[in-house]
Amino acid sequence: METIKEMSKNEKIKNLTSDWFILMSKYEYSYHFTWLGCSIIQFPQDVIAMQEIIWQVKPDLIIETGIAHGGSLIFYASMLELLGDDGQVLGIDIDIRKHNRMKIEKHPMFKRITMFEGSSIDLDIVKKVYDFARNKKSILVVLDSMHTHEHVLKELELYSSLVTNNNYLVVYDTVIENMPESFSSNRPWGKGNNPKTAVREFLKTNNRFEIDKEIENKLLITVAPEGYLKCIKD
Ligand SMILES: C[S@@+](CC[C@H](N)C(=O)[O-])C[C@H]1O[C@@H](n2cnc3c(N)ncnc32)[C@H](O)[C@@H]1O
Repeated sequence: METIKEMSKNEKIKNLTSDWFILMSKYEYSYHFTWLGCSIIQFPQDVIAMQEIIWQVKPDLIIETGIAHGGSLIFYASMLELLGDDGQVLGIDIDIRKHNRMKIEKHPMFKRITMFEGSSIDLDIVKKVYDFARNKKSILVVLDSMHTHEHVLKELELYSSLVTNNNYLVVYDTVIENMPESFSSNRPWGKGNNPKTAVREFLKTNNRFEIDKEIENKLLITVAPEGYLKCIKD
């Protein structure tokens, strides 16, 4: 769309967006929202982008690393429910807290959700994921667990081949690279060591994916700049 292209070139909007991000980060903006009663640690703008992607690609499996309270799993499951087919959601987390598990398991959308507990880069977990994904025709993968370069790069290597042609591999929190050091001062990730640096390294040798710039250009406010990767090859 022409207006999106024009807007993305507007330096004033770019600077305002970046200032907005820095100001909002101290208020833990991404923790303020729920989806069907369940905390979802996402920006509403990215939730809208995922809704558009899910409608467009109609996945029969959505895999996400990083469950936390489960809001994103419930969100994907509710979108698949609206699509009406038998789409499934698979979540992986190293630590599924008891109260989170109970809340997810009681939710009406749980009928479409499976959860594996363990590290997303543990090869036994990866094997279980591949077994689960067997015979699925349209697979969308979202990476939102540990945000260090090494971990995300490993996840990209392990999970990218599950993504089917024309579907998406979404890498959250690439925005860490754009933020001041103080944003991640008490975290194992930071500038130079985060999902965006991992995506850049991954794309140097992998030609199945390209960054869908239109998504971040229209959102402006997104935690995933350079993180919406479209699969362009079998
Ligand atoms: C940002 S939260 C996920 C938020 C969730 N996707 C949402 O949108 O609401 C990150 C999660 O990753 C999990 N995590 C951290 N290291 C992990 C690892 N090695 N493997 C799998 N999950 C991990 C944490 O336990 C935490 O629940």
